[in-house]
Amino acid sequence: MRKVHRCRFSILSRICLISFIILATFTFINQEIFKLNNCRGLEQDSAVPTSSIPSRYLLIPYREFAYRTSISCNAYKLDQPDKELSQLHPKYSQYLRGAFPYVIPYTNITYEDVENFYNTKSNKSRLAMRQISFASNIEFENIPYKYENGMWSPIGVTSAQRTAILVPLQDRDYNAKAFLLNMHAFARRQLLTYLIVIIEQVYPINSRFNKGRLYNAGVRYIQQNQQKLNITCFILHDVDLIPENDGNFYTCESKHPKHTTLRIRKLNSTSDYSRFYEFLIGGALILTFDMYKRVNGFSNLFWGWGGEDDDLSLRFIQRRACVVRPSYELANYIALPHSNGRSNNARFKLLTWSTVRLDTDGYNKIDSMIRIVHILNTSTVLHLKIDVDANHIYYKSASIGNSQLIYNKTYADLTTTRGPVTTRVAKKLTSM
Ligand code: BGC
Repeated sequence: MRKVHRCRFSILSRICLISFIILATFTFINQEIFKLNNCRGLEQDSAVPTSSIPSRYLLIPYREFAYRTSISCNAYKLDQPDKELSQLHPKYSQYLRGAFPYVIPYTNITYEDVENFYNTKSNKSRLAMRQISFASNIEFENIPYKYENGMWSPIGVTSAQRTAILVPLQDRDYNAKAFLLNMHAFARRQLLTYLIVIIEQVYPINSRFNKGRLYNAGVRYIQQNQQKLNITCFILHDVDLIPENDGNFYTCESKHPKHTTLRIRKLNSTSDYSRFYEFLIGGALILTFDMYKRVNGFSNLFWGWGGEDDDLSLRFIQRRACVVRPSYELANYIALPHSNGRSNNARFKLLTWSTVRLDTDGYNKIDSMIRIVHILNTSTVLHLKIDVDANHIYYKSASIGNSQLIYNKTYADLTTTRGPVTTRVAKKLTSM
């Protein structure tokens, strides 16, 4: 009996010892991962174009990672324009008033209403127009602006940058019209030279939203028209968000992406602003083309709501970039109402593999994936209608129960074609 007892004890203690070793090793590895991905360390060396994170560390439990990581550049201050730029930078605009008097139009507002509003010179007829047709409470100032070669610019001032505001869209027409009505007024207070591009997903019929592909398609379109437009700054903007303060500058920082959506309040809601996790870069993100290209844009694999912006955060981390943010009191937004889109249940699996895919899944692949179905160009909007699955590869079923299928396909791509594709893509990228 005694022997049996001793034996049991020793088996038990062995199990305990082994479990302890496993636990200790796991905790150590975890700590190493978080140390490596901490942005505080990254910002000191943000010019380095490639990651030093060994790929074996990249398969990470995403949820835990997102909630424990900040992508902010902690020590970095926003670019300060020097006095010579006083004619150019929004900071010195004489039209800044602080609170932005956004307008919630009637639901029957049309794109023509917006177009007519911004092309009518006299304040009197503007007033009549808005009272009859689409809103009654507009307080926008009539700031002298001209429309030329596809862009709006302030008369008598050269803006510091040339800005494209890119807005992906699916099924939120009212939000798009309300966005346009407000955003022109907002951009003008800051004396931006700008155009607004709505990138609408129209095919496949009834498919889930692929915001990543839409952004990639929008940036690609601008790049193809750069001779005419000469854009120096991109603003990636959700269609349902309207900024509440005109001191929230829609300008690119020279070295870092800027995330400006820090607090969001639902329209007509009695609850306070929501603050999101530090890792979030969704909402409104402002960056140069160089930065966009450095991370190979967005992943093309996210179908449905959620995750594509978190995937971009992981790309920034891998490419050693952190984001800058304005102060909280400036970065408040109002969220317009809309029905909820279908969410992407595969997003956590996709995020786990995010950084491994960076070079083979993104902006460099967009040409073969999408087709521009229609282009509508008025002075208030460049409206691109897009088929986001022109090669009929990923989106097979309208009632997509196939998130798992997409994930499997992605996984298969990685495991079968990763080596040769990476080199091919790298070559192609340099020629873009
Ligand atoms: C999603 C993001 C989204 C964020 C805030 C996250 O769970 O993955 O895509 O931007 O929530 O709504």
